[in-house]
Amino acid sequence: MTDKKLPPGLHPDTLAVREAVERSQWGEHSEALYLASSFVQPNAETAARRFAAQEEGYTYTRTGNPTVTSFERRLAAMEGTECAIATSTGMSAILLVALTVLKTGDHVVCSQSMFGSTIKLLGTEMARFGVETSFVSQTDVDAWKAAIRPNTRLLFAETPTNPLTDLCDIAALAELAHAHGALLAVDNSFATPVLQQPVKLGADLVVHSGTKFLDGQGRVMAGAVCGTVALVDKVMGTFLRSGGLNLSPFNAWVVMKGMETLSLRVKAESASALELARWLEGHPKVARVYYPGLESHPQHALAMRQQNGMGGAVLAFDVVGQGAEQLRANAFHVVDSTLLCSITANLGDVKTTITHPASTSHGRLTEEQRQSAGVGQGLVRISVGLEHLDDLKADLLRGLDTLT
Ligand SMILES: Cc1ncc(COP(=O)(O)O)c(C=O)c1O
Repeated sequence: MTDKKLPPGLHPDTLAVREAVERSQWGEHSEALYLASSFVQPNAETAARRFAAQEEGYTYTRTGNPTVTSFERRLAAMEGTECAIATSTGMSAILLVALTVLKTGDHVVCSQSMFGSTIKLLGTEMARFGVETSFVSQTDVDAWKAAIRPNTRLLFAETPTNPLTDLCDIAALAELAHAHGALLAVDNSFATPVLQQPVKLGADLVVHSGTKFLDGQGRVMAGAVCGTVALVDKVMGTFLRSGGLNLSPFNAWVVMKGMETLSLRVKAESASALELARWLEGHPKVARVYYPGLESHPQHALAMRQQNGMGGAVLAFDVVGQGAEQLRANAFHVVDSTLLCSITANLGDVKTTITHPASTSHGRLTEEQRQSAGVGQGLVRISVGLEHLDDLKADLLRGLDTLT
């Protein structure tokens, strides 16, 4: 039983709670959760038609599930795309893009400062299948342009980046990709559709780690790719149904409930992050703060234009220190001195998280890869949650004020 037909032109905040509400025959108010691996067919003839895709109807959860469909429709509505396809994790979403858009002999251009596993997947794993990847400076559109070759099929951007919050100019990269017959995919896990809708800026594909802000409460892993019906539903959907990268219905339901408060959370966390970033900038034991909401961020103007006037919930800072060993020790001291912040590499949670990227999210990279990503040993990353700002400041002061 589907909810009332929605009027057109609704705002994203409304779509976040109202789009694709699927109810069972009992009419429960909250979305139904269809925990089922397979679906009973009324008779053999109907089963035959459904398996032959001559009639709509669910048969087996790897090929479709009503709760997963609701999640996909809601995310597509929030991103402003024709459709979305749900995957088990953010990395399986990126894998799905790589395996469906690329083939042997193709070339990819992406930023050298993306999430560590994305760098590994595109730069190392895909090389075994004859796909070449060039890594360029995140912020330099000319560098992206110079890296393009006749066989470039995909530009892959993550903006802002984890952990340094460098931005890409999405509209400029989309224009560049299209001028060379390539596609632009944007990882929107950090910004979320509350800050930016990449397809509206010209991107072809949007990738999500739903494990981050979409869930927002650290419960489940999830991912998604958003884009056109022709590419996402038809090409990627066909691959996913055979390849089994699916999102479980339970996880889809949890993330969908998280998405209902996404806008409120992201706006509140972003406001706290801005205040915290300004405060950190004034602390004598902090060498540098990375946050797009700060006037000192080199891409502040772009951030305000592209990200709906907000900097987002994630910031990073370098502690003071001399040499890699001392920087690492100082960063560890700040992390370990917190009593409130959770020491975990995940982000986008209502609970503030703190991590040392060089030894966690970027720990598997070679020293050279880590340096070109700009992730130094003194760097600490914070994903600001919903705690009171005064409590967060006090938590960080425990380590900062006792640094020698
Ligand atoms: C920007 C970004 N993209 C993708 C991923 C991968 O997502 P998942 O952990 O859900 O596979 C992460 C994970 O931390 C991330 O930070």
